[in-house]
Parts: sequence; structure tokens; C-alpha cells
Amino acid sequence: MTIGCIGMGNMAQALVQGWLDCSALTAGEVFAYAPNQEKLAKNAARIGFCPASSVREAVQKAEVILMACKPYQIGSVLEEIRGLLPGKALLSVALGWDLARYREALGDEVRVQFIMPNTPARVGEGVFLFEEAHSLAPGEEAWARELFGRLGKVFVLPSRLMGIGGAVSGCGPAFVDMIIEAFADAAVKYGIQRAMAYELVSQTLLGSARLQRDTGIHPAVLKDAVCSPGGSTIRGVTALEEHGLRAACQAAIDAVMAY
Ligand SMILES: NC(=O)c1ccc[n+]([C@@H]2O[C@H](COP(=O)([O-])OP(=O)(O)OC[C@H]3O[C@@H](n4cnc5c(N)ncnc54)[C@H](OP(=O)(O)O)[C@@H]3O)[C@@H](O)[C@H]2O)c1
Repeated sequence: MTIGCIGMGNMAQALVQGWLDCSALTAGEVFAYAPNQEKLAKNAARIGFCPASSVREAVQKAEVILMACKPYQIGSVLEEIRGLLPGKALLSVALGWDLARYREALGDEVRVQFIMPNTPARVGEGVFLFEEAHSLAPGEEAWARELFGRLGKVFVLPSRLMGIGGAVSGCGPAFVDMIIEAFADAAVKYGIQRAMAYELVSQTLLGSARLQRDTGIHPAVLKDAVCSPGGSTIRGVTALEEHGLRAACQAAIDAVMAY
């Protein structure tokens, strides 16, 4: 299937690079439009997709459209391409543009799936929240889930939970990156080289996350298992509690949800 990307920024690049790397798509199957044509050409040469000189060209050349520009740009983009959309499936990763909003803008005939991705897609460890309500044809739905599933894990959520799901998984990489940076700074403070500090912290996070995910053991049980009585780890755990780790995490999600 050919895919036409509208916008080729951080998110679209992570997805397209990932699909090309794992051979889910070939370079000739991916078209993309972005207004800055010089930047687009450079990205096309680096990543290996086909640049389009207009949004209409990207849509005309593709069977499936990936809407990956900023949410506030979508209204005017739709005005330009609405006549070209019949017969095509639209996969949209823009925050807030769910099925109901597309129906409002384009009517009931549009075949659309709202997906909240995250940037770890670039290394095949993405989270993709698929809105349960969609209007894709059955074959298209299976194709889309399979395509995104090549770059991570697909979760299907009711429309009302897409916001909180996206706050955790879409914004989450930034929060986790701050944690990596903070622990790495602490490691550097006590003498570890900077480069090794990032590697050590990231591998610890990765390993702990995989242990929890793959075993399904409650995180508190895993935490208890490494806290020996009177030992060093429980002192660190207590310090994190005293400095408000849980409250800070809750506040981050509250701030996203209030936006
Ligand atoms: N980044 C994330 O982690 C993340 C997570 C979940 C969802 N998303 C969603 O993904 C979408 C893109 O986010 P991003 O982080 O990739 O943003 P970004 O890096 O700023 O990229 C935006 C892209 O849209 C292009 N663009 C600007 N005006 C356009 C127009 N009128 N028509 C077509 N394309 C246009 C830009 O091109 P120029 O550079 O040439 O201006 C750029 O390629 C957003 O809707 C966001 O909600 C992002």
C-alpha cells in the first residue's frame, strides 16, 4: 500500500524511518509533503522516502494518508484536499483530531482512524493508541494495526480515554528523558563519565521496564525485592518519597490533562 504523509516532522520521521528500517514499507511506497521543501528534500535523501511538491500531490499518489502536521494546521489542509479524499483511508496522529472531529469537518463518508503514537517508534518500541471508534474498512483496519504494530505495541482505547492515554504515552518519553538525565547527573556527580552515565541509567530503566512488563509482577513487589532491611536502596526509596516523586508524576499528568 502507498502512504502519503502530510507533514514530515519529528513524529512522521520516526514512523517512516522505522517502517523503512524494518521493511514494512519500501521507499517507493512513501510520499511526503512539508512546506519547507529544502528541508523535506534533505530528509528524503537521508531517510529515503519520495518528496512531494504539494499536499495534493502527496494525497493523489497514495492510497492511505498519514496526517502528521500540527493539529491547528489540519483545518486548512482539509480544505485543500477534501475533494481528493473519497476512496482513501486517513490515519491521523494529530492530538485532538479524533473520529468525531473529522466527521464534523468532512462528513460521515470519511474513512479515518485516530492514532496516538510516541517517538520510541523510531527504535521499534513505540506505543500506539488506536481510538476504538473508527470508520476504516475491515481490511484497512487490520493493515493499519499490523503496520503500526511493526514499530511497537498497539492498544485500543475508547474515545473518552484517548486523552489520558496520550498524556501518559505521548508525553511520557519527555518525562522519562528527564528522569534519565537526572539520574545520570547524579552518577556524574559521583565520578561516572557522562556518556557511560546515560548508558547505565537508560539500560537500568529499560531492564526494569522489561522485567515488569514481561513478568506482570506488581512494581511495588519488584521494588520491595531489591530493598533489603536497613539497606541502601530503601534509603533511596524513602528519599524519593520525601522529595515528592509520586506527587510530581501525578502533577505532570494533571498539567497535561488541564491543557
Ligand atoms: N512528537 C511527538 O512525540 C508526538 C506524539 C503524539 C502525536 N504527535 C502529533 O504528531 C503531529 C506532528 O508532530 P511533530 O512533533 O512531528 O511536529 P513537527 O516536528 O513540528 O512537524 C510538523 C510537520 O508539519 C509540517 N507542516 C507545517 N505546516 C504544514 C502544512 N500547512 N501542511 C502540511 N504540513 C505542514 C512541518 O513542515 P515544515 O517543517 O516544512 O514547516 C513539519 O514537517 C502533531 O499533530 C502532534 O499532535 C506528536
